[in-house]
Amino acid sequence: MSLPDLIHRPRRLRKTPAIRRMVSETTLSVNDLIYPIFVDETITEPLPIASMPGVSRIPLSAVGDKMTEVASLGIPGVIFFGIPKEKDAIGSGGWDAEGIVQQAIRAAKKASPETCVIADTCFCEYTDHGHCGVLHGDEVDNDATLANLQKEAVSYAEAGVDIIAPSGMMDGMIAAIRTGLDSAGFKDLPIMSYAVKYASAYFGPFRDAADSSPSFGDRASYQMDPANSREALREAMLDIEEGADILMVKPGLAYMDIIRSVKDATDLPMAVYNVSGEYAMVKAAAEKGWIDEKRVVLETMLSFKRAGADLILSYHALDVARWLNDD
Ligand code: PBG
Ligand code: ZN
Repeated sequence: MSLPDLIHRPRRLRKTPAIRRMVSETTLSVNDLIYPIFVDETITEPLPIASMPGVSRIPLSAVGDKMTEVASLGIPGVIFFGIPKEKDAIGSGGWDAEGIVQQAIRAAKKASPETCVIADTCFCEYTDHGHCGVLHGDEVDNDATLANLQKEAVSYAEAGVDIIAPSGMMDGMIAAIRTGLDSAGFKDLPIMSYAVKYASAYFGPFRDAADSSPSFGDRASYQMDPANSREALREAMLDIEEGADILMVKPGLAYMDIIRSVKDATDLPMAVYNVSGEYAMVKAAAEKGWIDEKRVVLETMLSFKRAGADLILSYHALDVARWLNDD
């Protein structure tokens, strides 16, 4: 039997490392990374998070050193989450000038002025019921929450934050925050919108980390149904109209198709959140020796880029930066 004469042989371009480098379509850089940091007002020593090996809540006193470490690795930005001493029904700690995130922002900008400080802007860490806004009965009251988001965003701005990142999936949150910031004189402060955020089981470990589990019910009346992708485009478009500067898709791994379709339909920089459950799964399998952690993580990061993400929020960011710097 004769073999066909092959005209096309894609393997020709896989022959040597140099050729492979020349035809590589996607690159991963330390510039793509944003590192999430949990700052806890109730502790004086770092507190490891059991479901997120390698990640700890840190006290305010440790923020400066953490920023120096991040900067020395070349990572351009961090995002803060706060665990406050006191919580209440409306999450008023979110706009306390002496709140834990406000203090963390000031400490961070002092230790590393050149590093971009982002603040997750929501209320689930500040409310005693763990929902992302003000309750009206058992429902999160959208518009009452918008008024509080304006106060929270302005308060973070006054503390010196570089980017506001609202994550609560309230309708109109970008317009409300933009109006609030502008009227307080912060016209140039960018908003990174958690535009497309699903009601996901992958947030499990984060809720231990940030002490932000809802005390009843779930977030399905404000976060998106994992079944929906056209709705993702609608959410993205609304946020663009309202003035978002950067869009985010969250979670990452199970939503690669969403990253691609939002990227194709929009022209803003786009971030993906490689969330706590994605991190925990990799860590657990690596601890068992079942996967090669470095290779799996670098492949995942590259795949986020290939899918269309420009920025990656990840708990692996410090390790990824070390690996990239070493190679
Ligand atoms: C707050 C918020 C959450 C995450 C980021 N911001 C939790 C949630 O919506 O329940 C999840 C991040 C992660 O899982 O790593 N709204
Ligand atoms: Zn929230």
